[in-house]
Amino acid sequence: MLKLGVNIDHVATIRQARRTIEPDPVAAAALAELGGADGITIHLRQDRRHILDRDVRMLRDTVQGVLNLELAPHEHGSGVVELAKIMKPDQACLVPEHRAEVTTEGGLRISAEDGVLRSVIDDLKTRGVLVSLFIEPDPAVVRLSKQLGADAVELHTGAWAEAWLAARGRDDDPELVRQVQRLETAAQAAGEAGIRLHAGHGITYRNIGGILHLPGLRELNIGHSIISRAVLVGMTQAVRDMKDLMR
Ligand code: PXP
Repeated sequence: MLKLGVNIDHVATIRQARRTIEPDPVAAAALAELGGADGITIHLRQDRRHILDRDVRMLRDTVQGVLNLELAPHEHGSGVVELAKIMKPDQACLVPEHRAEVTTEGGLRISAEDGVLRSVIDDLKTRGVLVSLFIEPDPAVVRLSKQLGADAVELHTGAWAEAWLAARGRDDDPELVRQVQRLETAAQAAGEAGIRLHAGHGITYRNIGGILHLPGLRELNIGHSIISRAVLVGMTQAVRDMKDLMR
């Protein structure tokens, strides 16, 4: 069955707006799991703008499903890779990171010659962490991810989500059709390469129906739309609503 990882970074963002102790992402994670989340996803950014090292430690102890830690492999001495090695989350998703961005823009640029990326993948895998790479939906990058030893790819669905919004309900909108085809082609490449298929970014209650058909899709990571609904109806209900749509 398709798994849901709930990204709770936004809960930590509210806490950090006041640099105080509430709301606690640890409480949010527990409620998300009660609502049916299969996993909890957090992004430990180099600037610690939302999730803190303390959150990673506490969630490592308290999350009952899969703890998926997003982090930048090229981390310039910020200690995020070191913490990941110590904490050994169930899963790590390697993402690009730029200081000024509001959210993760684009997929990881990967190359077979990238020794840093290779060693982060190897170090995490030897510690029993399932390693996923957050990439653009491009078959060549899917195959390269497999060559680098990744267990999974998470396809960046951001461009598709933007095309979906711009199409305003027109399924035959040329850009939307192109973006769906990109995802389908990358999903097929993942199946052929024998690498697990995840997807995430910009997925909402309204657009989710447009990607559930991707062949071999095993996991979705969803943050903004679930937390936005949770603000109004509560976390448990918001997660339950999303799981219902996935079913
Ligand atoms: N997957 C990855 C790798 C991400 O970086 C993000 C955003 O933090 C998400 C999924 C979730 O995206 P959204 O918040 O748009 O649902």
